[in-house]
Amino acid sequence: MDIIKKGYGNMNKDEIKKRIDELTCILNKANYEYYVLDNPVITDQEFDKYLRELETLEEENPEFSYEDSPTKRVGGEVIDKFRKVRHSIPMLSLPDVFDITEIEEFDKKIVDNGVDPVYVCEYKIDGLSVSLHYEAGKLLYAATRGNGTIGEDITHNVKTIKSIPLVLNKEIDIEVRGEIYMSLQTLEKINREREEKNLPKLQNVRNAAAGSIRQLDSSVAAKRHLEAFIYHLPNPLDYGIKTHNEALSFMESLGFRINKKANKIVRGISEIENYIENVTNERSNLSYEIDGVVIKVNDILAQKKLGFTSKYPKWAIAYKFPALDVLTKLKDIIFTVGRTGRITPNAVLEPVIVMGSTVKRATLHNEDYVLSKGLKIGDTVSIHKAGDVIPEVGEVVIERRDGSEMPFKMITNCPICGSVLEKKKDQIDHYCMNVHCPARKIESLIHFSSRNAMNIDSLGISLVEDFYNLGFIKTIKDIYALKEHQKDLIELEGYGKKSVSHLLEAIENSKKNSLEKLLFGLGIDGIGDKTALLLSKVFKNMDNLIDASYDNFKNIKDIGPILASNLYDFFHNENNLKLINDLKEIGLNMNYLKEAEKFNINVTNKRFVLTGTLSFMDREELSELLESYGGMTSSSVSKKTDVVIVGKNPGSKYDKAIDLGITIWDNDTAKKYVDELKA
Ligand code: IVH
Repeated sequence: MDIIKKGYGNMNKDEIKKRIDELTCILNKANYEYYVLDNPVITDQEFDKYLRELETLEEENPEFSYEDSPTKRVGGEVIDKFRKVRHSIPMLSLPDVFDITEIEEFDKKIVDNGVDPVYVCEYKIDGLSVSLHYEAGKLLYAATRGNGTIGEDITHNVKTIKSIPLVLNKEIDIEVRGEIYMSLQTLEKINREREEKNLPKLQNVRNAAAGSIRQLDSSVAAKRHLEAFIYHLPNPLDYGIKTHNEALSFMESLGFRINKKANKIVRGISEIENYIENVTNERSNLSYEIDGVVIKVNDILAQKKLGFTSKYPKWAIAYKFPALDVLTKLKDIIFTVGRTGRITPNAVLEPVIVMGSTVKRATLHNEDYVLSKGLKIGDTVSIHKAGDVIPEVGEVVIERRDGSEMPFKMITNCPICGSVLEKKKDQIDHYCMNVHCPARKIESLIHFSSRNAMNIDSLGISLVEDFYNLGFIKTIKDIYALKEHQKDLIELEGYGKKSVSHLLEAIENSKKNSLEKLLFGLGIDGIGDKTALLLSKVFKNMDNLIDASYDNFKNIKDIGPILASNLYDFFHNENNLKLINDLKEIGLNMNYLKEAEKFNINVTNKRFVLTGTLSFMDREELSELLESYGGMTSSSVSKKTDVVIVGKNPGSKYDKAIDLGITIWDNDTAKKYVDELKA
């Protein structure tokens, strides 16, 4: 491709327009050939050279730039929030099946309904589904599946996906659906870069793709190099299309990327089985992750005849591959003590990489669990990740035993305080009953200061352990007496004046927390943060909780007899009542605070970072306002930042906030809070 370029100065408007047309055409064709057909025709250098030329021309002559200009693919568009989109045809998911018998049952139902068992088998791409709407052949908008009825508008990010056409080969109104995904190489590359920057790794391709699509700033998505395959035409009959396979070819002819190599027409159960066998062998050679095979009835009228349930089409299923297993050695089984005294056996494993991350430990839950698996120390075991995140020990590989393995034996005494463990009748867990057990105490102190409890952010695991061992904190009450040891703390190695005063400030601020945080922090058996919130909303203050009867608790929806008796017992235990009373005297808030009240209080606790342009006030003005209410503002985002306020065209602070998982307030949320604050 050799195109001679004149100097811009010599070009008249007609020539400029012609050149823009020419470059747009070359670059769009190159994108299509590279990203859709997987058949590059020009080098990256040539592509970049033409792109730069087009950018310059468009900048100086924006009136000639096209909607589908390749320059629009690089991102930069920033939205305030995700607009909700209603799907006129619900975006259904598919029923999962896990073995051949279930596929046979599906096939039988199809045949019993008088339908010819001709199917299209496809890869089940591990990503997130997208609905694309085109009007007169131009991309109008793109939406996520959401809850199936209402999704979110992600057009700005979808425009950065080069395998999704902005303009079709025909001026047609159409909706198509497909999967947005991230290739394995891209995930690896991004994680290498993140590692260098000390950022946490993206867990897997699905989360990475979904996280990239849920960005307000499209330049972040552009950097994530997402890809897409299109696999569904919701309205085939509108286009005179009679089979799913025809629909795929039709969409391909419009310029969409179809997974041609994978899609296959098959007849009957044995051909489905062959397809699955081939895919199972091929899977590890693919550049992207698949988690199963989708089987769809080919004939569209037969699909109509079979219809839908409320959740799924009756004409398609998703066969899911069994979780990927990796073998490793079980080096030891160690026991930990939780804050309620519950003893948990844990597998110590020869470190092994499972689906992209290193696994060294896995919970073995309880004695029965270990015995049911027949585990011996020294065994070779399979490891998989449940829900792709939490590592689990699967099976023992009996053939690998050589006789040196040691049998598992449940301990009878607490590994920390030595007291005799108890196993209550009909319960599976062993408990250390010693309320003074240091392990239990440390765990409950860590729990008390944790984020969803009192949120004393600087009082983390190692600090609690140190302060416990040094004798500064033995009980929850002692946390609030730490200020008396300020001098001693500053003298400790590794704790400067600044960090100590920050810690003490965080402790003081925690006194103002709403009731649910304290209630959750007290660590009542079985009471999680959501139940604590529910109880706080119902009972309003601590005294009402103390006065409540067993029935008062049990009558609350979602509180069963066990939780009700845990609560009743807790509030009738002398030590607990003494602790609550002490905390009251120290000045801890014992009331449930409404949202607005919480906000007023929370500003005092919070560290803010502001980025981008806000519609309702200057950044400086907002910083001053927050500070006047006791908030702190800083110019850089760190783990300690509580909230990042993001206006239009935010900088890299926004990316960092996303990476660190920090709360983000967009323009409207910030405005809402500022209005409340000023009210
Ligand atoms: S067809 C009505 N085909 O799997 C038909 N889905 O559990 C709708 N998926 O939500 C979907 N690859 O996100 C279809 N080749 C494929 C697919 C596929 C991945 C996803 C999709 C869907 C989920 C179904």
